[in-house]
Amino acid sequence: MILKQLSVKNFRNYDDANLFFSSGINIFFGNNAQGKTNLLESIYFLSFTKSHRSFIDNTLIKNNAKSLRIVGILKNKDIFDTKLEITLEKDKKNIYVDDNIYKKVSDYIAKMNIIIFYPEDLDIIKGSPNIRRRYINSEISQYDVNYLNILNNFRKIHKMRNDYLKKISMNINYDKQYLSVINDYFINNAIKIYRMRDNFILELNKIVDTIFYDLTGMNGFRIDYKNSINISNFEDLSDDFLYDVLNEKLINSFDSEVRIGSSIIGPHKDDIEFYLGDLNLKFYGSQGQQRIAILSIKLAEVEILEKYTNDTPILLLDDVFSELDDEKKNRLLKYINQDIQAIITTTDLKNIDDDIKKNSKLFEIEDGKIIKIMEVDANE
Ligand SMILES: Nc1ncnc2c1ncn2[C@@H]1O[C@H](COP(=O)(O)OP(=O)(O)OP(=O)(O)O)[C@@H](O)[C@H]1O
Ligand SMILES: [Mg+2]
Repeated sequence: MILKQLSVKNFRNYDDANLFFSSGINIFFGNNAQGKTNLLESIYFLSFTKSHRSFIDNTLIKNNAKSLRIVGILKNKDIFDTKLEITLEKDKKNIYVDDNIYKKVSDYIAKMNIIIFYPEDLDIIKGSPNIRRRYINSEISQYDVNYLNILNNFRKIHKMRNDYLKKISMNINYDKQYLSVINDYFINNAIKIYRMRDNFILELNKIVDTIFYDLTGMNGFRIDYKNSINISNFEDLSDDFLYDVLNEKLINSFDSEVRIGSSIIGPHKDDIEFYLGDLNLKFYGSQGQQRIAILSIKLAEVEILEKYTNDTPILLLDDVFSELDDEKKNRLLKYINQDIQAIITTTDLKNIDDDIKKNSKLFEIEDGKIIKIMEVDANE
C-alpha cells in the first residue's frame, strides 16, 4: 500500500502541513528537533491510533492548541483510495474511514499497515518482557483482524480470574463451579493467543536468518518463543491436548496463585529471546548486533505482512542510517530499493547514497514546516 497524501494539523510542532509522497523512497531531512520524527509519529498514529513513543495522547497536540487532526489518503489493493482520519481533542479520539466513524479500534488497526524501525527499538531486545509482548501484539494485529479481539477477551477474563483469586485468598470458601467456568474461558482464549504468537515467531524464523545473514554475513540468528507452559511446537498439538496441559498447570499452581492473588500461568507471561548461535543477544550481543537483529526482524515482517495481507506495508525508518557502517547501510538499501514505499529520516543527506537520493523525494524540514521539496525528476 502507498500513503499518497498526508495532512497534519496541530500535531506536535506542526501547525498545518500537507504532503504528497512518492510511491518509492521519501526522505525527511533537517537538523535536530525540527520535526522529522514527529512526521513519522503522525503516520504511526494514523496506523495504530496511538504513538510509538508517548503513552499520553495529549502530548501529541500542539502546545496551546485544543485538538489535532491527521488525514491520510491510502492507495491499497482496492480500486478506490481510502481516506483515513483521526481527530483528538482532550481525551476524545475519533477515527474515520472514508468519513464513516469507527467505534472499535480493533476494526480499524489493519487498514493501514506499517513497519517502523526507530532508535528506541533496541528496547525490544534490552527492555522488559512487556515491551516484547506489546511489540508482538501490535505486529500480529496488523495482519490478523481477530487478534485484538481475542487479546481483549483474554485480558477481561484474566482480570476476572485475578479478582477471584484475590477473593479466595481472603476467604477460603469459594465457588468451585464458578472458578472452573472462569478457567475454561481463560484456557480457551490463552490457547488461541499462544497459537497466533507461535505462528508469528515461526513465520519470522523462516526468513529472519537469511536477512540477518544478508546484512551481516553471519549465520544462525533465531528467535525463541518462551511461554509459561514450556511448549515450542503448537502447530503439532491439538486444542484438546493443550487444554489438558494448561488445565493441569492451573491446578498445580492454584495454591501459589491464591497466595499471591494473581495468575502465574498464561500468555500474559510470554517472552521472546533472540539468539545468534548459542549467544543470547540480550546479554551478550553488541549494540550493533542488537540493532541489526531488530532491523532483520522488521524486514522479515515486511514479507510476512505481504504474505498475509497480499499488499506491501509502508516502511518507516527513523534515523537508522547514521547508526550503520557503510557496508550495512548499502545492504539495507538493497532491501528498501525493492517494491515498497519507504519514509526515511536523517539529519544529514550525506548519510544516504547518491544513487538512492536520485530516486527519492526529498523533504527539508525546519521548525515544523516543510521548507523545500525535491521531486524525483528534479534530482536526476
Ligand atoms: N506537543 C508539542 N507541541 C509543540 N512542539 C512540540 C510538541 N511535542 C514536541 N514538540 C517539539 O518537536 C520538536 C522535536 O521534533 P522531532 O522529535 O520530530 O525532532 P527530529 O527532527 O526528529 O530531531 P532529531 O534529529 O533530534 O531526532 C522539539 O522541538 C519539541 O519541542
Ligand atoms: Mg528524530
